[in-house]
Amino acid sequence: MSREGRPLWIIGPGRAGLSLALMLHGAGALAGLTLTGRWDEPARLKLLRDRGLRPRYTLRVADGAAPPPRGVLIAVPDGAIAPVALELLQAGSLPSLTPVLHLSGSAGLQPLLPLAEAGHPVGVLHPLCPLPDAVRGSSRLRGAWYGVAGEGKAGEMARWIVRLAGGREIPLREGEMALYHAAASLASNGVVALLSAAGRAMNRAGVPEEDARAAVAALAAASARDVAEQGPAQGLTGPVVRGDEETVARHLTRLSGPERDLYCLLGKEALEIARDRGLDAAVAERLERALADPA
Ligand SMILES: NC(=O)c1ccc[n+]([C@@H]2O[C@H](COP(=O)([O-])OP(=O)(O)OC[C@H]3O[C@@H](n4cnc5c(N)ncnc54)[C@H](OP(=O)(O)O)[C@@H]3O)[C@@H](O)[C@H]2O)c1
Repeated sequence: MSREGRPLWIIGPGRAGLSLALMLHGAGALAGLTLTGRWDEPARLKLLRDRGLRPRYTLRVADGAAPPPRGVLIAVPDGAIAPVALELLQAGSLPSLTPVLHLSGSAGLQPLLPLAEAGHPVGVLHPLCPLPDAVRGSSRLRGAWYGVAGEGKAGEMARWIVRLAGGREIPLREGEMALYHAAASLASNGVVALLSAAGRAMNRAGVPEEDARAAVAALAAASARDVAEQGPAQGLTGPVVRGDEETVARHLTRLSGPERDLYCLLGKEALEIARDRGLDAAVAERLERALADPA
């Protein structure tokens, strides 16, 4: 049962909203759930029903406030947060002091300002993990990191969810959320883009596509673990940190286009780490020149 025995209200029955719903259901924390969408009940709600979660589904924001929710999660795409917040306010049916959170890592509190001005505690709960669908998403949410912002009851509600997930909280600073989210995108979408380029190059070297994809992903996962456990300085291996100019030159003879650009850009970042680890200055300078030479 939820702490207050009141239902949670999630607006936006998409990937993030349904993942959170299933995670909270699995944690035994839902006294009830209202879901609000734009169209007739989507077929993907069957995933929830199959797992014993039977939400009340509404099409109109105005219908979601009864029974009074313990809190609202706005789980719509970033650009729709402000219009939905306004709709909530104009419906006038949300009991005062009900906390309202959105799930965006970059939008900040601005889109919720009209609700804050009307006295609602507002905040952010940003799951720092990819949520591709409700089932994989709900399991990813357990033990994940969460960006959290919001004072009073909004912060309390966000932290309540983080605790139920067995997760860890990153306090977010208003004004720095775009930078926080850019860092998250580098680590998530950036790695996907990098693995796409690496897999393509390995495939061109004669490795079957599926094997190449699995091999580069396994390699990246091991490197990510090393960085998590030891930090980038100790986690870095490879020719740049060894000062192996011949190998870097050999790589560059076979790389072109975006793969070469990526290799050089990331090589320069690796070179900074190598310098900090004491790479010989003359070797570092020659490597820098080699990496500065695009295709
Ligand atoms: N997915 C992730 O990996 C992830 C991770 C962390 C944070 N987030 C955040 O979570 C939020 C939602 O993202 P998402 O990935 O879940 O997007 P999504 O899968 O596209 O789901 C958004 C849902 O909101 C619905 N919607 C849009 N406008 C609406 C409105 N005016 N009223 C009611 N429902 C409306 C959409 O309806 P339709 O089905 O009709 O389009 C859809 O069901 C975003 O702020 C995103 O930044 C997502």
